[in-house]
Amino acid sequence: MIHMGTLSFVLACALGLLPAVNVGGVGATTPAQEPLTSIVDNSAQDTTFDQEAALAKLRKSIEGKEDALSSEVFPDIRVLNDVPAGRLLKIMEFGFSRSLGVNCVHCHEPGKWAKEAKPTMAVARAMWKMSRAINDEYIKKIPEIQADNPSVNCMTCHRGEAKPGRNRPSGASGR
Ligand code: HEC
Ligand code: HEC
Repeated sequence: MIHMGTLSFVLACALGLLPAVNVGGVGATTPAQEPLTSIVDNSAQDTTFDQEAALAKLRKSIEGKEDALSSEVFPDIRVLNDVPAGRLLKIMEFGFSRSLGVNCVHCHEPGKWAKEAKPTMAVARAMWKMSRAINDEYIKKIPEIQADNPSVNCMTCHRGEAKPGRNRPSGASGR
């Protein structure tokens, strides 16, 4: 029952993102721009939240169940159903947080992981489905593309920014 498209996307997400740290961030030649406002305001929480500690606690809580499906381990999984629980935490850390240049608090209320605390949760689910659709329906069907497994993931667009696509390099018209 495991969908191949899902698997390869998950793989791309987990693997492709590991080394990437703010690669496409604001370069020296980019003119200063107002920071973009996210759909959530986490400015107050960012300093107090300890992501390493939160992840350590979560890893401990799923000990022995890392290979079981997320949907069997966590109470409210709606789109990452086919992902093993251990990998879900890696996707949260690298695929989601690092790609967007944020921490867990951007989408979650710390400790209440299943709670729909913020609108970014719904956006992230939609972005996951969108990325999967791009991979399954479009990019793999372009015959001229030579890559073994052409795919996009969160980092492809976000590049360490919560709101990508606005801070274009000077000279780029961007339409
Ligand atoms: C960009 C938004 C986003 C970020 C950042 C994020 N998450 Fe998530 N997280 C989600 C979404 C969306 C789900 C639900 C996935 C689904 O429905 O399949 C989720 C699910 C989870 C779950 C399972 C919840 C349950 O009980 O069903 C845990 C645990 C979790 N996240 C932990 C973390 C941790 C730890 C971090 C930081 C390292 C983090 N998340 C960062 C969006 C995010
Ligand atoms: C094809 C490009 C693309 C991909 C792939 C992509 N995103 Fe996005 N994402 C965007 C754009 C564009 C925006 C809107 C930015 C804006 O509001 O100007 C956005 C916005 C968001 C937001 C709202 C940010 C905020 O704080 O307002 C979240 C959350 C998000 N994306 C999560 C994800 C996650 C998680 C993934 C991977 C599963 C992902 N995105 C993959 C292009 C993409």
